[in-house]
Amino acid sequence: SRPKVWVSQPLYEDLEARLEQWFDVTRTAQVTDHAPAAIAAALADADGALVTLNDRIGAAEIAGAPRLRAVANVGVGYNNLDVAALAARGIVATNTPGVLTETTADFGFALMMAAARRITEAEHWLRDGRWQGWGFHQMLGAEIHGSTLGILGMGRIGQGIARRARGFGMRVLYHNRSRLPDAVERDCAATWVARESLLAESDHLVLVLPYTAANHHVIDAVALARMKPGATLTNIARGGLVDEGALADALQAGRLAAAGLDVFEGEPAVDPRLTACRNVVLTPHIASASLPTRRAMVSLAVDNLVAAMGQGPDAGRPSDPVTPQTGGKAVPL
Ligand code: GLV
Ligand code: GLV
Repeated sequence: SRPKVWVSQPLYEDLEARLEQWFDVTRTAQVTDHAPAAIAAALADADGALVTLNDRIGAAEIAGAPRLRAVANVGVGYNNLDVAALAARGIVATNTPGVLTETTADFGFALMMAAARRITEAEHWLRDGRWQGWGFHQMLGAEIHGSTLGILGMGRIGQGIARRARGFGMRVLYHNRSRLPDAVERDCAATWVARESLLAESDHLVLVLPYTAANHHVIDAVALARMKPGATLTNIARGGLVDEGALADALQAGRLAAAGLDVFEGEPAVDPRLTACRNVVLTPHIASASLPTRRAMVSLAVDNLVAAMGQGPDAGRPSDPVTPQTGGKAVPL
């Protein structure tokens, strides 16, 4: 009989249909926040799975899935997968880098600008009926052109943001554990600096790091205290990178001018200390949300799953493995 594949969420039927060429496909009919027990039940007799970042595939789910050989994540971040547990079983996991780079960079830049120029704060003020007429001193924002942009996690998306910053006449600094090749640095007009310097010199700091145990709360009270007074912080990666209570304190104290947050540690819950701050732009994890990009992510995940399960033109060679035995490693997004 044909291998069985579980598709955890309704995505795009025409793209998922490609899986049916090789596999018996079980679909979830409605968008579902699967409880761990439901994931375990779905994986119990599955050979492969196409999942999204809402689906947590941990050690217990993996232990209960004796036939599982491949997991394709629809998303570039894959902290919802226990990669070590998957790798220990020889299960190949994949993600969807590349196809969402430009869409996500557009959004990161927009969120940074919205925070710096107080766009949503000003709109709420207007909608609340508080605008009494043009005011010379109203809603003064932080400068974007000519300022210094700091990018923590200079992968594909970070580089896309850096290229956009050139058009705004910004100076671009970045920090990664390792420096980019000279040619890439030149192309992005970006300069590597130590993390401390990035914090101290950036007028606008954007986080595009993968979330791992090692960088949990990489932006904590100590890091925030090292940031330039009046700077902004934008996070389009994962909420767990930031200590949200410490950020709310820095925003309320006016130490930071503003923040733009697309991701939250306990999402969809948003820390009430953040919603209480006017100078923060809050969006519901939508940085890659355009129809062409979402379709491209699903298409790539389908290709990855087919290849990881030993079928199709790239049998055994999925393009985007994240499990180490297949060459995957945690790199900036
Ligand atoms: C979205 O957050 C993704 O990781 O693709
Ligand atoms: C940046 O990418 C880091 O890993 O420190």
